Amino acid sequence: MNLRLDSFITKFSGFAVAVTALALCACGNQEPAQNKTTAKQATKQAAELPAEQTAPSKSLVVFYSQTGSTKKVANVFQKARNADVFEIKTATPYPSTYDSTVAAVRVQRESKQWPALANPKADLAKYDTVFLGYPIMFGTFAPPIYSFLDSNDLSGKVVVPFCTYGSGGRKASAAELKTLEPKANVTLAYGISNKRISAEGADSVVSAEVEAFFANLAEGKTEEMLMGGYSEQRPLTAEDSAVFAAATKDYGYLSLKPLSVSTQVVAGTNFLFTCEMKAFGGPATQTNVKIFRPLPGRGEPELIVVEK
Ligand SMILES: Cc1cc2nc3c(=O)[nH]c(=O)nc-3n(C[C@H](O)[C@H](O)[C@H](O)COP(=O)(O)O)c2cc1C
Repeated sequence: MNLRLDSFITKFSGFAVAVTALALCACGNQEPAQNKTTAKQATKQAAELPAEQTAPSKSLVVFYSQTGSTKKVANVFQKARNADVFEIKTATPYPSTYDSTVAAVRVQRESKQWPALANPKADLAKYDTVFLGYPIMFGTFAPPIYSFLDSNDLSGKVVVPFCTYGSGGRKASAAELKTLEPKANVTLAYGISNKRISAEGADSVVSAEVEAFFANLAEGKTEEMLMGGYSEQRPLTAEDSAVFAAATKDYGYLSLKPLSVSTQVVAGTNFLFTCEMKAFGGPATQTNVKIFRPLPGRGEPELIVVEK
């Protein structure tokens, strides 16, 4: 557990206890007169406490979203932590079609000329935790995030990355963030595919996943620890192949051939396929593909991420 995050969570819990205590005092109906005094005293005592003991450490959700998927996740983070929000806007929006955006981003990446922002500076002074959200573009965070990092100082902040993607990029983008912001405390990242976020009932799925993600953060879980409970990789059975085929039937980005698999039993089963991947006629490389199969009768196998 990192210290700043630990203190963030401890302070948050402390605040919740204080609020609950005040609420209980204020709502009690056994001895109204006495309770009135108690509530008054408690309020006075709370007012005398140092600010950090009476209010949760404030967090800020900073995000960029071109087509709205990341914005949906940003809203979930905002609500879950009652955070303030800063939406990064480019001075000139990207073109409206996917192909022309790809072309524009390619030029930016090749020249490292990051886009000018309409709102370059965020007032970060009063926040110790920044939830930083972005779409994955070209395997890592979208260019406006570089622009934001160039104009703002995240030193000493707890930075919690979250992203949306077509197939993956969560780990790679968080790793790049760690490299670019060595003085920030960059935590585990949350990620979700744009397909899952636009599916029916996505709101409750994302909220539940974000809560589970917070629990993992609070427990100080690392990427390696999240892999706990997976079996050894083994050759594919016909059933594994059927799960892979069902989950990837609409996946058109890259050619994927499953080679072996390991599984983890949760409420359903996680499958981690080791696959041969070919990108745009390029050489074959290996990648992991995570698929979740719900319990029987609860839905079809779902592609969670293609790790790159
Ligand atoms: C220029 C561009 C590049 C992209 N590159 C990737 C990529 O490398 N990997 C991936 O999984 N998704 C990629 N995507 C898909 C986006 O990450 C995905 O649609 C995301 O959810 C968009 O988020 P937004 O709606 O918040 O803008 C790319 C999209 C665009 C427009």
